[in-house]
Amino acid sequence: MTYRTEWCGDVTGAMVGQRVKVAGWVHRRRDHGGLVFIDVRDRTGVLQLVFDPDREPAAHEAAHSLRGEYVITAEGVVRARDEDQINPNIPTGTVELPVDHLEVLAKAKTPPFFPEDRLDVDETLRLRYRYIDLRRAKMQHNLMLRDRVTRAVRGYLSEREFIEAETPILTKSTPEGARDFLVPSRLRPGDFYALPQSPQLFKQLLMMSGFERYYQIARAFRDEDLRADRQPEHTQIDMEMSFVEEEDIEDLVEGMMVHIFHETLDVDLPRPFPRMTFDEAMQRYGSDKPDLRFGMEIVDVSDLVASSGFKVFAEAVAQGGAVRGLRVEGAGHFSRKDLDDLAKEAAVFGAKGVAPIWIESEGVRSPISKFLGDDVQAAVVERMGGVPGDLLVFVADRVSIVAASLGALRLHLAERMDVRREGWEFVWIVDPPMFEYDERERRLKAQHHPFTKPRVSSPADLAQKPTELGTYAYDLVLNGVELGSGSIRIADPELQEAVFQALGLSEDDIRAKFGFLVEAMDYGVPPHGGMALGLDRTVMLMAGESSIRDVIAFPKTASGSCPLTDAPSNVADEQLKELHLRVV
Ligand code: AMO
Ligand code: AMP
Repeated sequence: MTYRTEWCGDVTGAMVGQRVKVAGWVHRRRDHGGLVFIDVRDRTGVLQLVFDPDREPAAHEAAHSLRGEYVITAEGVVRARDEDQINPNIPTGTVELPVDHLEVLAKAKTPPFFPEDRLDVDETLRLRYRYIDLRRAKMQHNLMLRDRVTRAVRGYLSEREFIEAETPILTKSTPEGARDFLVPSRLRPGDFYALPQSPQLFKQLLMMSGFERYYQIARAFRDEDLRADRQPEHTQIDMEMSFVEEEDIEDLVEGMMVHIFHETLDVDLPRPFPRMTFDEAMQRYGSDKPDLRFGMEIVDVSDLVASSGFKVFAEAVAQGGAVRGLRVEGAGHFSRKDLDDLAKEAAVFGAKGVAPIWIESEGVRSPISKFLGDDVQAAVVERMGGVPGDLLVFVADRVSIVAASLGALRLHLAERMDVRREGWEFVWIVDPPMFEYDERERRLKAQHHPFTKPRVSSPADLAQKPTELGTYAYDLVLNGVELGSGSIRIADPELQEAVFQALGLSEDDIRAKFGFLVEAMDYGVPPHGGMALGLDRTVMLMAGESSIRDVIAFPKTASGSCPLTDAPSNVADEQLKELHLRVV
């Protein structure tokens, strides 16, 4: 080998006395005038090189010129370090390589930051110089973990007779609830392709084409507001199966997660994963993606306070709303100011206030005591299981506001009280509603997507109380993060049309947007269903990161730009002209 015989990280005690050659980047250098020490780094780790002026003057001379991030190759005979030089924290910590031949393959300017792991630089700068940021051990680890995860996925699915098929990137809009990215057509002036929000319709067509089991590590594009766990383009482990029911898909996906965790983290997840209905999750956790690493469940006290003297509570219940609360163990020391902060937190979700009850060893203290009355208050404290040292907090409002605001407070308080357990808490959230009513747009929206099979016996059932309809849909949640969702699909063209109509689409809309799907359903469609797991989110959790940007090689910033390439950017007038476009 011209450049290396071993990876740096593989040079361990077993190789003492062996001649090796390593290659990589200068990670750290210590030049004491006499001996020069260089840590050389490749993707497996670092190895200490030693340059001795007495034994190898030429190599030592050359080592003087080395600077951080120079690319080198070095050769020598591995030797054990002196006892007092041993570094137990790295695998190569017991050895070093006295170098007799050094070659500088490339010089490097002083980088804007060094690829150290305890990095404290602005993320924009990290993204601007991503190729340096990615040299960090943690980022190398994350991307290699991602590779191992996708390999485990491929192994698991191909063993189960899934075929990997690609679907178009330049396509027609596939609605998944986000805005489309559009690509103008040069050959058809005024027409646009859309980048797929997911391969949803194509994977269903593949089922109608008779492939039975499909998967793809697929890119999906959504023009939405970005957050730590959202990117404009993300990757899905996308799957679809024919002749299956909900349990078959959940079973397959559960097995896949168990396989991935076993193969890549050596973690054996217990099966089966717990299942919870959507309604139960909303009631107990105020979220459709509950974090089960701690308790602090939401407790309903509506019946107890309905006829109490506290008007805010009584009226909320009278108007069909609810009064629910959280027991925050050991938060008895929270101040008024802390309560104000909680109220601000809850207000984001529409809560008009947060009512506290402090439980002290001398008794119960609360600004609403005098309104509630002693008996009601005692009953409430008892239902909440409150003991001295606890703080109880309550929100009264419409059910959706109570659930959302207490759900958010629950997470906020778990963080503040540091009560989350270590570990992997998976849960299936099943049977969500088919539709939700969008207050702003004043129309029904599909809770998952319009191809999801509602729990009806005939298309006519859709007209009755659509917001109360359930579906054959399921989400997989891990530690409070939605990893994936899926559903059994509609396999009846009449039912599919009825769902489109319930969503407010006219006959013309249906033909223009989904004509090809409805038509294909006329030619023999098997019962089918599937799921897509967010690969970025899965790897993020497995890597212990809190942003998916840390498991994507070249992600976008929160404003959707790439500081490295400066995309999106201007294009030449000539290009616009060819596309029949003008910027206004
Ligand atoms: P859904 O829209 O729920 O379902 O997406 C599936 C999973 O993809 C991940 N995800 C994202 N990850 C990062 N950035 C984003 N902007 C983003 N959006 C979604 C989430 C999510 O659970 N076609 C359906 C699946 C199906 O029915 O088979 C779909 O795309 O982890
Ligand atoms: P007020 O009468 O507005 O000063 O409120 C008295 C107490 O009730 C305060 O602790 C408020 O935070 C609380 N409160 C007001 N509205 C609500 C509500 N919708 N839900 C729960 N607590 C509330």
